[in-house]
Amino acid sequence: MTKILLVGNGAREHAIAETLEKSRHRPRIYAYMKANNPGILTYAEGVELGSYSATHQIAAFAKKVGVEFAIIGPEEPLKHGVADALAKEGIPCIGPKRILAQLETSKSFTRSLLDTYKIPGNPLFASFTRESIANADAFVRDIRQFVVKPDGLTGGKGVWVQGDHFRTKEEGIAYARECLQDHPRVIIEEKLEGEEFSLQCLTDGETVVAMPAVQDHKRAFEDDKGPNTGGMGSYSCPDHLLPFLTRKDVEEGLEITKKVCRALYEEAGDPYIGVMYGGFMKTKKGVRLIEYNARFGDPETMNVLPILKTDFVDICRAMIDSKLETVGIEFAKKATVCKYIVPEGYPSNPAKGGKIEVDESADAYFYYAAVEGKEDGIHMSPSRAVGVVGIADTLEEAERIAEDGCSRVKGKVYHRRDIGTRQLIQKRIDHMDSIMKP
Ligand code: AMP
Ligand code: GLY
Repeated sequence: MTKILLVGNGAREHAIAETLEKSRHRPRIYAYMKANNPGILTYAEGVELGSYSATHQIAAFAKKVGVEFAIIGPEEPLKHGVADALAKEGIPCIGPKRILAQLETSKSFTRSLLDTYKIPGNPLFASFTRESIANADAFVRDIRQFVVKPDGLTGGKGVWVQGDHFRTKEEGIAYARECLQDHPRVIIEEKLEGEEFSLQCLTDGETVVAMPAVQDHKRAFEDDKGPNTGGMGSYSCPDHLLPFLTRKDVEEGLEITKKVCRALYEEAGDPYIGVMYGGFMKTKKGVRLIEYNARFGDPETMNVLPILKTDFVDICRAMIDSKLETVGIEFAKKATVCKYIVPEGYPSNPAKGGKIEVDESADAYFYYAAVEGKEDGIHMSPSRAVGVVGIADTLEEAERIAEDGCSRVKGKVYHRRDIGTRQLIQKRIDHMDSIMKP
């Protein structure tokens, strides 16, 4: 009997649990969570609650249960070295060791890695410490517009983009100085213009396999207005490309990821096992890297795993055994639209502890995120609540199904109705066309 440890309590992990449940190996899932996710609970054979920094507690739980391997959902346990703690107990892990997870946890590590190994994809950038920040004025002098990124995990909310979050160069540099109060380094880089896409790749440290390309929507409000969030929703297309993306663009992102994978092995002497999720931007000059995440995306997981046709346990085993090249990984040729239900006021002033009711008798799939199942029902936290997913032959139909699902979640909630609509997608195509114009 295969037992698997699943770490995480979000919609991403709910989708991972559902995918494991479909496996012909009929695995038993043991969930380590920060809070009781009602979706994951329906699949879990055993549960332990604890913090994601308690890597020894996680490893002890895995050992006690006797799991074959672990799958790590969020970045936080990876940052704290959960894969290292599990390895000490002889338990393999889908998720990189701490040194390799720097791919996500340190933006300066990743930018420097690309530079050192002459891998294309970096914008013009420089990394500053408290000692060297005085040189930032000279660095930005010749850059038209720039972006400031604290060097550490900020849940996608610490990045400031000129024109969006600050206006003048002086304001940008003042923010960079502010970042240095909490972080050892800050990155300043040229602002790129284009359309973003997420390319999540599975790897055993050698073979790298791309999953369908997805586009996330970071801004809180419709028409891409408002503050950045962890992601308000996402879509993917039946051809596994995006309406503004060619196969060559995706290949370019995949090539960068393959080279980074090789460079990571050279640096650490240890294979990266897990997901390398590249956030890329298609620009006039080619595909550029915005950042890497060392895990599945949230919401992007909900676009790819529900359409995975290959047995996920077989894939995980092949990743652990360095045999990923032997598995033909297939995804259904379907369109997917995911819309996140969030508490009213999210992210700046979210309503706290509100209850929601979900009528799941729809064609949509519902993935529970930062909610807690209690005796009297499902309670929201200040974060994203439910990922609602439509899957169909066309984007129009997938969007309609997702929207119908959203209308069945009752409570003080909000979602972006525009995600996956023809109108918003046309805007993306027009934006890309205007950038590519000679
Ligand atoms: P990150 O946390 O690095 O993904 O950054 C968050 C968001 O900031 C990205 O999704 C982009 O929308 C934006 N961003 C980051 N870096 C750049 C850049 N060099 N040029 C333009 N936008 C950027
Ligand atoms: N979709 C953004 C993230 O997973 O970080």
